[in-house]
Amino acid sequence: MKILNFGSCNIDFVYSVENIVVPGETLSSNKLDLFAGGKGLNQSIAAARAGAVVYHAGCIGSDGEMLKDVLCESGVNTDYLYTVKGKNGHAVIQVSSQGENSIVLYPGSNFMVTKELVDKVLQNFGKDDILLLQNEISNVPYIISKAYEKGMKIAFNPAPFDEKLKAIDFNKLTYLILNETEAMGFTGKKEPMDSIAYIKDKYPLLTVILTVGKEGCICSYADKILKQSAYKVNVVDTTAAGDTFTGYFLSCVCKGMSIEKALKISSAASAVTVSGMGAAPSIPTMNKVDAAIKEMKEYTNSTLNKSAVIYKYIDENLKTANLNELSRIFGYTKEYTSELVKRKIGVSFSCAVKKKRCERAAELLKSTDMSISEIIEEVGYSNETFFRENFKELYSFSPLKYRKEKQK
Ligand code: RIB
Repeated sequence: MKILNFGSCNIDFVYSVENIVVPGETLSSNKLDLFAGGKGLNQSIAAARAGAVVYHAGCIGSDGEMLKDVLCESGVNTDYLYTVKGKNGHAVIQVSSQGENSIVLYPGSNFMVTKELVDKVLQNFGKDDILLLQNEISNVPYIISKAYEKGMKIAFNPAPFDEKLKAIDFNKLTYLILNETEAMGFTGKKEPMDSIAYIKDKYPLLTVILTVGKEGCICSYADKILKQSAYKVNVVDTTAAGDTFTGYFLSCVCKGMSIEKALKISSAASAVTVSGMGAAPSIPTMNKVDAAIKEMKEYTNSTLNKSAVIYKYIDENLKTANLNELSRIFGYTKEYTSELVKRKIGVSFSCAVKKKRCERAAELLKSTDMSISEIIEEVGYSNETFFRENFKELYSFSPLKYRKEKQK
């Protein structure tokens, strides 16, 4: 079985920065590196390094020859990679000192994939082959329809997600591999399990793999739900973590591996990728993954319902709730936990604690005769002015006025 990956090839301009620049801010970077990248190219390399026979199809610009070289050196067949007039696609990537990234794409040659070119390439593949696609080239819906007509299996990584993708008939796909942001865009659901349920309900035959960063991944396959934890590593650069996972996963299932084992190996491979800098250069070979898997430890955190864990922790520790403690419970860094809280419950940790404390204070004001200072002590505020301000912000009344109104 051959993998045909119709995908992007980018030149990645990677700027190392202290933090990702925010609107209105100007920031000097510490370093600029140029790497081969593009979700398509990264996934082809990952699949080939995992041992599959991979053909990469797409378009590069006149300045993109080095991308072809990188693919060839990694064992990817480039017979269907065409050089077109104009600039190659590129990505402007910021990588923070925490290893997080933000990416701006210039599609360039990647948007020069025409229907004629698609037809020409697909002539060479048939029902025993598998098509891999992302969303960084032109004519994605057309490629899916044509490959489906030929009876090819199709694996789709809807990255980056955009509204146009909603027009695709996902019943034509065999595998859907996506991350939390893409799942949220597609399903409108915040919780990974809700996204899985939504997709499964609409497309019962689809095998869905939802990657959730340090929380691992969830896979809905036939009537099973499988979960795989992420591996703990020192994060240098998260770029291409998802691409490595996708390429490895597909390569493993093509080789006849069980889904469970494929998930484990793909998670390990993507952990190795995030511990190195750059997209393509950090994607490991299978030998490296085999060796790393013996050394690395999985996160033991089994629950994926993080919002429930966050709310429960605050409820049960109203007086003393703090981010350090919650980070310890999750086994993540404080920075990652802070970001996770915002992502999961839509507000910062301190806002969530403030709200819970005021809610509890409101209950006590309503149903007891406790003095304000007793209530403040009971809910964990140390500063009375601060409490009064927060309470008023939330209930539009001062605490005493609130009590009067409620006890009338
Ligand atoms: O997934 C990472 C990739 O996204 C980068 O290599 C960049 O080129 C963008 O396509």
